[in-house]
Amino acid sequence: MNVLQVSAEIFPLLKTGGLADIAGALPAALQTVGCQVRVVLPGFPAILDDLGDSWVMAELTAPWGERLQLRQGRLRTLALDAYVIDLPHLYARPGSPYEDAWRQPYADNHRRFALLSWVAAQLAHGLDTHWQPQVVHSHDWHAGLTSAYMAFMSHSSLRVATVFTIHNLAYQGVFSPACFYELGLPHEAFGVNGVEFYGQLSFMKAGLYYSDYITTVSPTYAREIQTPQQGCGFDGLLRTRSGSLSGILNAVDDAVWNPAIDHHLSNRYNVSDMIGKSNCKAALQEELGLTIQADAPLFGVVSRLTDQKGLHLVMGAIDAILSRGGQLVVLGTGDAYLESLFKARAAQHPQTVSVRIGYDEAYAHRIFSATDVTLVPSQFEPCGLTQMYGLKYGSLPLVHSVGGLADTVVDCSLENMAEGRANGFVFDDFNQQALERAVARAFALYARKPEWKRVRACGMRQDLGWQSAARQYAALYRHLCA
Ligand code: ADP
Ligand code: GLC
Repeated sequence: MNVLQVSAEIFPLLKTGGLADIAGALPAALQTVGCQVRVVLPGFPAILDDLGDSWVMAELTAPWGERLQLRQGRLRTLALDAYVIDLPHLYARPGSPYEDAWRQPYADNHRRFALLSWVAAQLAHGLDTHWQPQVVHSHDWHAGLTSAYMAFMSHSSLRVATVFTIHNLAYQGVFSPACFYELGLPHEAFGVNGVEFYGQLSFMKAGLYYSDYITTVSPTYAREIQTPQQGCGFDGLLRTRSGSLSGILNAVDDAVWNPAIDHHLSNRYNVSDMIGKSNCKAALQEELGLTIQADAPLFGVVSRLTDQKGLHLVMGAIDAILSRGGQLVVLGTGDAYLESLFKARAAQHPQTVSVRIGYDEAYAHRIFSATDVTLVPSQFEPCGLTQMYGLKYGSLPLVHSVGGLADTVVDCSLENMAEGRANGFVFDDFNQQALERAVARAFALYARKPEWKRVRACGMRQDLGWQSAARQYAALYRHLCA
């Protein structure tokens, strides 16, 4: 089964969030279940630089008349065959792939990402005479137009199935209707039965409307997005598509996130030898100028600083954490108001609160290894990866009961503990009090060392690997191609 994956990001070459982690891990996972995977990517500098022995496999003209080269080669870091759009005018820009230095979306984003989908559709339509995909699997709004382009191409005898994965419905790829006419889609695509969304053009809507099948990244989020509360305006459409929509829970790449082999850590450890974790904690406390105290529960946040992540609740809970003798370490970047609020709290409590604004992959690994609790109080969370990284690194996740957080974390209630299922702390109501009660439960469990260790070991042993997800995707592809 030949599968073409379409995404804007791919770890470790280009990452702004969890999408990259998944796009980077899925191809190898699919290969273990008999799929041959190739990827198509925009030619951001880091991606082109990694493309070894590449050649120009096609010269094409974009729908708005611009000439481009499509390069083919192998991504060295990922050992993965790739098609990369070489058009520096669109992609050779420093920093974020989506925004300029003032954090404004680029004015030509509709072209930059429509082109990704348009090229994917050409590949689906036989552009590479040596390799024909049977399934085109695109991810998030950046790749949402793929199925729309494919739906309007003249039909050959070959049928290529389309799968669209929603990683976050809140980012909808919305552009002014004027942009539509540059993109080469037929007039009739701009309607309620098409890419139109409240008078605007939405790339996300294109993915939802035109794809043969829609997946999202957890079973709970698949249900949530069919409700008006969490459907971001798409719940009606998603309900009409409920027969072709399901959740496949994300997984963790064990080659990247594994404390037993993680080269970012000062000390490595595993579930039956946890001394290394205590050393990681002491090392981080020392590095950050926090009080070096083994028995001070250390809470961690590694997150985009946006409203989605519910971090104003953490801000409000800092006093509750500190008054009980805890410490807090935060790594994040995002909304300016959250950045400055967190920085101000760190300045007030230099020995117990450390905040680093920025993006730092290696430091993120060290935080999971050093902390006792990973805080993920998101208002909504399609899947969430950091709670799973916390589980693997023995940092008990404390989460709001939504989306993939609800599917991966089991609260330390007495009955869950008795059944040996508890692996963290879960709160239901999205408010300060509920979060603080969960924080209080974390302190209570921390005071009972044998029970804490049992729960931690349960989390560390949890199977978070790719096998199950890869099998589900492969079964879906086979079903669609049958
Ligand atoms: P989302 O994709 O919504 O941001 P996820 O939990 O799915 O949330 O994935 C976030 C990913 O980004 C994880 O790999 C996490 O470790 C990483 N991450 C988030 N913020 C930072 C940061 N400031 N520095 C390093 N890694 C970060
Ligand atoms: C999105 C979601 C996050 C998910 C990630 C990977 O960024 O916000 O919940 O884990 O995609 O699927």
